[in-house]
Amino acid sequence: MAQFSKPAWLENPLVRWVDHRLPVFSFMSHELYEYPTPRNLNYWWNFGSLAGIILVIMIVSGITLAMHYVPHTDYAFDSVERIMRDVNYGWLIRYIHMNGASAFFVVVYIHIFRGMYFGSYKAPRELLWILGVVILLLMMATAFMGYVLPWGQMSFWGATVITNLFSAIPWGIGDWMVTLLWGGFAVDNPTLNRFYSLHYLLPFVLVGVVVLHIWALHVHGSNNPVGIDTKGDQDVIPFHPYYTIKDTFGLGVFLIVFAGFIFFAPNFFGEPDNYIPANPLATPPHIVPEWYFLPFYAILRAVPDNFIGGWVTNWMGFVIFDAKLAGVLAMFGSIGVLFLLPWLDRSPVRSSRFRPLFRQFFWLFVIDCAVLGWVGANPAEGYFVLIGRIATAFYFLYFLVIIPLLGILEKPRPVPASISEPVLGGGAATAAERAQ
Ligand code: HEM
Repeated sequence: MAQFSKPAWLENPLVRWVDHRLPVFSFMSHELYEYPTPRNLNYWWNFGSLAGIILVIMIVSGITLAMHYVPHTDYAFDSVERIMRDVNYGWLIRYIHMNGASAFFVVVYIHIFRGMYFGSYKAPRELLWILGVVILLLMMATAFMGYVLPWGQMSFWGATVITNLFSAIPWGIGDWMVTLLWGGFAVDNPTLNRFYSLHYLLPFVLVGVVVLHIWALHVHGSNNPVGIDTKGDQDVIPFHPYYTIKDTFGLGVFLIVFAGFIFFAPNFFGEPDNYIPANPLATPPHIVPEWYFLPFYAILRAVPDNFIGGWVTNWMGFVIFDAKLAGVLAMFGSIGVLFLLPWLDRSPVRSSRFRPLFRQFFWLFVIDCAVLGWVGANPAEGYFVLIGRIATAFYFLYFLVIIPLLGILEKPRPVPASISEPVLGGGAATAAERAQ
């Protein structure tokens, strides 16, 4: 692998003094400066660093909000209103945090789809991928608990619906879990307190897992759009300045769009009902989660009453699990199946550039996720029920049947011998294509 030149600042006497005792600067230089990176990364590779920056933005804005927020059912809503009206730039900090959550999910969902399209989850990056799925779960838990804190109508009823799901787990375990989550027998002040505590804690756990994620990434280096391993110096370039500049440009574009939402449409992603203080005696007509949970919400509601639960009951004469539990299992299973992806896809070719069939099914899957989101945003009635069931069935078919079968049946297109071959060959056909 290439040895790229070290930065001049490593020669600074003070830097050398510190580095001799604690080599943080050599470490930074090695991982962020000289670090050999495939030369063909496109803009889809910007989203990992962008996610990292948003995580920092979320932590900084969150800590600032925490200085003014009061985690008590009597004061929480009003303390948030005070942040919006009286605290200097409180409105800005809150809108950054609120919209930052949505931006985080947009960026991470794109990051995940990128990984799926280019086969970045395949060997030797399985653990990197698994850590990513753990990150996703942590993000979901953090976002869910954060949404409860303003103690509006959607905070309260969202918390009630989602925590109640655990009661579907049989043998009293579910009820025990729900009481533990609530800290009592209903969503109330102890619930708000523990959610606040965990909402503050989890982002730091997230930072820890992100460090492992990037560590795992740096062991074998990034995958790339053609999905083949780098083979020597001609295939790599140093991370700095090439990708520091590219990532900075992406960050600039992101900040423009982000500022657009914060200053011109700060409640675009929000739910108006959450500006009504929580009222345990008045259920809102539609309880909808934030947009980033909608596909999973659709899967939860898609399992029919007479499906697995009813089927098991009728066939075996007693209830092993009812439809509610089946829905909960399907919802968690929809994320759980991501853990298995590296082993479900047996194709030796990573990038879907060389997998025409896989590519088509991938786009169907993306559309399927969008359809699930749309169904999740609507009441579970009329034709939404049928569409939700079909889309849920496709979701699982995609992972459990289509991907494994394509790995065996699909004939991939010839893969170039190296990353630089198509470029150095003047864009002419690859050796593999010429040999055909
Ligand atoms: C806080 C959230 C996350 C952060 C900060 C983060 C950070 C990063 C960074 C900096 C990279 C290298 C740059 C890039 O390839 O874009 C990366 C790569 C990667 N991430 Fe993440 N990530 C996050 C979430 C996830 C999730 C949820 C998954 C999957 C479920 C995932 C899977 C991957 C994979 C497979 C790669 C390797 C990509 C390649 O080399 O082609 N990441 N991540």
